[in-house]
Amino acid sequence: MHIRAIEAPCGAEISNVDLSQELSTEQVGEIRQAWLKYHVLVFPEQNLSVDDLARFTLYFGNFGEDPFFNSIEEHSNIAAIRRDADEKTSLFAENWHTDWSFQPKPPIGTCLYGIKIPPNGGDTLFANQHKAYDDLPADLKSKIENLTAIHSAASGYSPDGLYSDQKEHNVGRSMDIVVSDEARRTHTHPLIRPHTETGRPAIYSTAGYIERFEELSEKESKALLKELYRYQSSNQFVYRHQWQPNMLVMWDNRSVLHKATSGYEGHNRLLHRTTIAEFE
Ligand code: SIN
Repeated sequence: MHIRAIEAPCGAEISNVDLSQELSTEQVGEIRQAWLKYHVLVFPEQNLSVDDLARFTLYFGNFGEDPFFNSIEEHSNIAAIRRDADEKTSLFAENWHTDWSFQPKPPIGTCLYGIKIPPNGGDTLFANQHKAYDDLPADLKSKIENLTAIHSAASGYSPDGLYSDQKEHNVGRSMDIVVSDEARRTHTHPLIRPHTETGRPAIYSTAGYIERFEELSEKESKALLKELYRYQSSNQFVYRHQWQPNMLVMWDNRSVLHKATSGYEGHNRLLHRTTIAEFE
């Protein structure tokens, strides 16, 4: 296995390993160490069936729960991130976020496997939140330390959220999103969280899922979330990932934020996604 750090604030490319075959304990250990060190791992030129993707995911934890997507028919733990060439809906996942941070036990990681990749555009951006924490200016650091964030999925997946099928801009969405009142449920996490394996502190999640802070008023929370969002996604923390077909990317939701980008109008884009829950 060859591991090469990408010249960016996070990310490494791993080659010389065939993920369609069973991996040894040593190989899984090596990948896990690289994942903890680089936070985003890119495996180009992998020919993976849905069962291969599922098996790879389970080397690193259990399957996470995807409350607001229907799975693909072929596998109950795989979702399709899809946009058709002629689709006019608002782009999915265009805001910086970390996956399902409103859950009591959010997924520690996510795997995304490229199937139909447009010739240009559709990059995924990642922002290193350990580095964002380490580089915090003193005034912002003093404002955010010891805050408790109240998370929910309401702004995206409630009946009046961004992805609601009652909204005109969502007519004809190819992704199988399930909107529900369940999205209004809230759960708290500390804003600064030590990584559960490395102990490194990171700024956890963003305005997308954080409704407000327990310790601040709604107005104060809103202003701080806006300031923080800008800071968390500054260029000095960002790796821009360009896709190729048959490429697998695995990221650590405890360490990075991510977002989708546009720029591929007239082309299909399809990726298969699993989330990784911590081993019980
Ligand atoms: C996601 O946030 O899971 C999707 C990212 C992408 O489509 O690039």
